[in-house]
Amino acid sequence: MLNFAIHRDDPQPIYEQLKAHLVRQIEHGVLAAGERLPSSRDLAEQLGIGRISVVTAYEDLKLAGYLEARVGRGTFVAEREIAPDERPAALTGSAADRSEALLDLMKLVKRPDVLNFSQGTPADSFLPVDVVGQAINQVLARDGAAAIAYEAPNGYLPLREAIAERVAQVGIHVDAEEVLITGGCQQALDLAVQALLSPGDVILTSNPTYAGMIEITRARGVTPVGVPVDEDGLVTDRLEALIIEHRPRLIYVAPTYHNPTGTVMPLHRRRHLLRLAQRYHLPVLEDGVYEDLSYVGHPPPPLKALDDSGLILYASSFSKVLMPGMRIGYLLAGERLYERVARVKRAADVCTPALNQRALHAALTSGALGTHLAEVKAACIQRRAATLAALAHYWPEVQFTPAGGGLYQWLQLPQVGPTATELFIEAVHQGVAFAPGDLFYVGGGDSYHLRFNMVAQPPHLIDEGVGQLADIWRRLAEERSYHAHSTTPMVL
Ligand SMILES: Cc1ncc(COP(=O)(O)O)c(C=O)c1O
Repeated sequence: MLNFAIHRDDPQPIYEQLKAHLVRQIEHGVLAAGERLPSSRDLAEQLGIGRISVVTAYEDLKLAGYLEARVGRGTFVAEREIAPDERPAALTGSAADRSEALLDLMKLVKRPDVLNFSQGTPADSFLPVDVVGQAINQVLARDGAAAIAYEAPNGYLPLREAIAERVAQVGIHVDAEEVLITGGCQQALDLAVQALLSPGDVILTSNPTYAGMIEITRARGVTPVGVPVDEDGLVTDRLEALIIEHRPRLIYVAPTYHNPTGTVMPLHRRRHLLRLAQRYHLPVLEDGVYEDLSYVGHPPPPLKALDDSGLILYASSFSKVLMPGMRIGYLLAGERLYERVARVKRAADVCTPALNQRALHAALTSGALGTHLAEVKAACIQRRAATLAALAHYWPEVQFTPAGGGLYQWLQLPQVGPTATELFIEAVHQGVAFAPGDLFYVGGGDSYHLRFNMVAQPPHLIDEGVGQLADIWRRLAEERSYHAHSTTPMVL
């Protein structure tokens, strides 16, 4: 019999303590390969902890290869030995590793019975299938072979011109020569990182930040250093000290409807950031992918519109408002930075598909996409209202600042209840999902935030989903407070 003391005051969640304990037992051979573990219910009772903590620990350890489920028979210590370099990310304790394990857990949201609020995209029902179909046919008939041949490496010139015209509406004045067409905004971000940083260099990023940027930093071997975010976005007062301490090569920032927090940086912070960029001659990679999705008021102009130093690279795409799968995005940069990025782009993929660029151009210039965008925005406004109403009605315990645009509502759970990941695991098993905040932090964050996609589902399902989440949260919180007062000894 093994004694296992759970430390309830420890900042490490109970399921992490249990996981670490089980791993130690497995690695020391106390729990042998093939040995059957108690059911989650029994173990929870035995330890006097919530069942969700046991389920979470078991699920993580299955993903990590320490445990395996045998259908109808329970959970067993896996037969296979795990080499040290295969050790699960989730158990080494670093935040990056934990979020890797969490990404694995996120696969559960793909189950067809799950009411999903975790995705980073608008609803599929918003995608303009007819408009795209007509545009593709029109382009094939008009351009023939050119529509499926190699395209100019920096992009189809008429599309670059149309984008230059489009961004002028938000105050960005560029020539078509400063527009580089990319495979979505993601490629624009990745190319900028590759062009401006070498492995080991530091990039400053908001913390939390877009999970795709965390992936880029890992893939390119650069070090992300987090800058805190409050309800006004990036806290620019913290920037200068971080610049001096870490000597970054780039700052990544999404000032308008930030993913995941939905925040908007006010004008004075934007200007502060620009002053610092100029003082330290530091390029800034601005992500404007949610710029078009404003529901309340108008955000201040993008950094790129306020800049006269040439240090701002602006990345965006048509993914969030029109068609993510066509993978058309763009990077705007002044001549010197532009050439460095364009060179990496040519090496990466020669060119972005001609047909997609030309079809997008046809749809943009016909006005069809403008009409479509207006409809999408109207639906988003309704869904946002449904989200806010459902949160107020069902889940008064959560705290949030209503997002005025974009796709996401960032929610803070009270610390007396389950963490967002604990809630996620129970919720997804019950058929409703969101994105736990841990996915978006570099260097560790707090475990009580979550990102709720407020436009992914129609209003009646938003109402149902929020109601369900609130019920599950309340049950877990009650369980936790019950166990916090229990004095059962922890014995395994
Ligand atoms: C902030 C942010 N930037 C970039 C992207 C990637 O966009 P795209 O699909 O155009 O590559 C996303 C998608 O979720 C995002 O949220």
